[in-house]
Amino acid sequence: MKKLLYNPKQIITVDTQGKNYKRGAEQSSLGILTNHSILIEDDLIAGILPNNSLNQNDVINSIDLTGKTVLPGLIECHTHLVFAGSRSSEFFQRLKGKSYEEIARAGGGINNTVEAVRKSSFDELVNSAKSKVEYFISQGVTSLEIKSGYGLSYYDEIKLLQVIKHLNEIYDIDIAATFLGAHTFPKEYKNDKKKYLEIIINEMLPYIAENNLAEFCDAFCEVTAFSAKEVDSIFNAAEKYNLKLKLHTEQFNSVGGLETALAHGAISVDHLEVLNDDQIKYFSATESVAALLPGVSYFLDYNFAPAKKMIANDAIIALATDFNPGSSNISNISFIMNLAAIKMKMSAEEIISAYTINAAKAINREKISGSIEVGKQADFSIFDSDNYLDIIYNAANNLNSMTIKKGKVIYTR
Ligand code: NIG
Ligand code: FE
Repeated sequence: MKKLLYNPKQIITVDTQGKNYKRGAEQSSLGILTNHSILIEDDLIAGILPNNSLNQNDVINSIDLTGKTVLPGLIECHTHLVFAGSRSSEFFQRLKGKSYEEIARAGGGINNTVEAVRKSSFDELVNSAKSKVEYFISQGVTSLEIKSGYGLSYYDEIKLLQVIKHLNEIYDIDIAATFLGAHTFPKEYKNDKKKYLEIIINEMLPYIAENNLAEFCDAFCEVTAFSAKEVDSIFNAAEKYNLKLKLHTEQFNSVGGLETALAHGAISVDHLEVLNDDQIKYFSATESVAALLPGVSYFLDYNFAPAKKMIANDAIIALATDFNPGSSNISNISFIMNLAAIKMKMSAEEIISAYTINAAKAINREKISGSIEVGKQADFSIFDSDNYLDIIYNAANNLNSMTIKKGKVIYTR
């Protein structure tokens, strides 16, 4: 079935000429077309055609996008959106001077959410996740990553991954699951860390791999969570099951996580708020995507990742919300984009590259999505503006008016 996206004011192709990611200065060029239309055939992009070359037949089955801006479907590459409970009291404790790490050490933080998730049934978790997924879809997201990590037991981690799998089945967008059993040590194994590692490696990972419940294995490398050596042992096990690796690292302290993740060829390294100048240099020589999360820096009120220095060192930068109840209770993408602009000084073009093709690479989707190139999936976000700059400028406003996944209109406003 053919369909035409007719006459938008701008098509932001994020064209990579087949390279499928943007590094360093490449992130400054977006490929902006005017007076063009996009031909969709079934679920794929079949052509990007000058309007004056269209014939009457093409135009018949068309969606008139006059005055709108078309982007590749946005890719949200880092969320923890399946959770239960609220951490609002911790939020206000922090405002009175308690640090995120102090709260974690006192048994709150991630373990607070773990308690609420363990009490929640599969159905309860699905129901509370639905509106969160739908909000991302309404913002133009066509691929969404979701992590487990609030179960921290064999039963509860698998429950979370089954919720994520179910969400992928009931929604038209593509939902990628990440196993984050190594998010922190659960209370019951606080004094027997070795035992919890064994459970991850010998019980959780084999079941998850055998039942195809995750594509990625993530961990949190930090003083309050897992050491680099512990992450290394988890990654060695995950690699045997062909899971791709991700790491929450250099968030508050550098404890060897980044070096470990890069040595394992992780698909992405996320956070990086405390990178030093020597570490920034690693990024010119790696294909690991640096997934930056400015919502966390804002929500916890501390430093932002050095995005511009990283770009100058040829890094591949992605951006994401990190939507979670503790460190970034933020699911609004245009707010994240605005933070990236104001607080990290990223240009509009770098921000769009980071939320499309490079975010696709962070979840291994770059060959099929993340840019408007012939042969890729027909995934689009269509903004109610004649200029892509408005998406970032209109802080925290959702300007998306239509989301298209594999050629099908799945959301309109
Ligand atoms: O990405 N850094 C570790 N994990 C999450 C926060 C999780 C939480 O506080 O619930 C993050 O910031
Ligand atoms: Fe996270």
